[in-house]
Amino acid sequence: MTKTARAFTNIALIKYWGKKDQQLKLPCTNSLSLTLDRFYTDTSSEVIDSDKDIIYLNDELLNETQSKRIVNYLEETRKEYGFSEHLKVNSINHVPTSAGFASSASGFAALAASIDQTMNLNLNKSQLSILARRGSGSASRSIYGGFVEWIAGNNNENSYAVPIDEEPNIDLEVLSVVVNQSAKKISSTVGMKKSVETSPFYSNWVKIVSSEIIEIKQAIKQKDIQKIGEIAEHNAMSMHALTLSAKPSFTYFEPKTIEIIHLIQDLRQKGILAYVTIDAGPNVKILGTHKSIEQVKTYLNNLSDVTTVVANIGHGIQYF
Ligand code: PMV
Repeated sequence: MTKTARAFTNIALIKYWGKKDQQLKLPCTNSLSLTLDRFYTDTSSEVIDSDKDIIYLNDELLNETQSKRIVNYLEETRKEYGFSEHLKVNSINHVPTSAGFASSASGFAALAASIDQTMNLNLNKSQLSILARRGSGSASRSIYGGFVEWIAGNNNENSYAVPIDEEPNIDLEVLSVVVNQSAKKISSTVGMKKSVETSPFYSNWVKIVSSEIIEIKQAIKQKDIQKIGEIAEHNAMSMHALTLSAKPSFTYFEPKTIEIIHLIQDLRQKGILAYVTIDAGPNVKILGTHKSIEQVKTYLNNLSDVTTVVANIGHGIQYF
């Protein structure tokens, strides 16, 4: 019986933005995320008698171009772990593009876990995180639930995620606000590379991240939502300052993104506990308590052309 591996997506509170090794996907800094319960990928795989991998996404067979990234990943994994079998992979994404999340984090975490099962690699969680990282950096963190830190490391073996608190008892919710569902024009890989190579602020970013990681871990321990929100928002804005200060400058923000940032700042003036974080795209994630997120939703309803989804804290990898 083929087992299915399920991995949930995560939102970075301290962002991963820049690689020191493109091939190995070694990041320049640590990063820290929260795994979310609403969005996940289910992946199953089986060995096939063929010299080609077969990849299905949402039950549809992918053509050569569409499956290239996954096939290359399988090729790399075969070399690294010393097996030669080809696989049929089926991934079902429960990460609606309408929720404004990239599916690469949950996608590669679920694929890594599925390969581990099918090929009997017997990887421990750190090794699984390494395997997921080779597919997509942020996937390294989706091995665990709750708050997770990815330790940058300096080689393939010591760059992996560790759990900070897998089941935090904290009243923290994430409201995803989708302003645009279309694929981003500048991929995170390209955006990171431009930022590292051309932003005069990049060395400051490295310093900001190392102090904010310490501060946010303290705030998580104290269950201080205001502090967590303040640090996460500052970190996200600092990441976007790298794109704005790159040469040539670029931004993932759209007019609606800015409108929502202003709205959240105004709501804070009214005493509503809400903070924003934004990844490599125009969509906004709002951090708050159950009560404050309900309040934010009523204000967002007045904006046209936006959809919202609320997520709570999610689990690590599951098998069934
Ligand atoms: O894992 P990638 O290559 O999709 O990069 C993710 C980059 C951000 O989402 C912007 C930040 C992060 O830490 O998840």
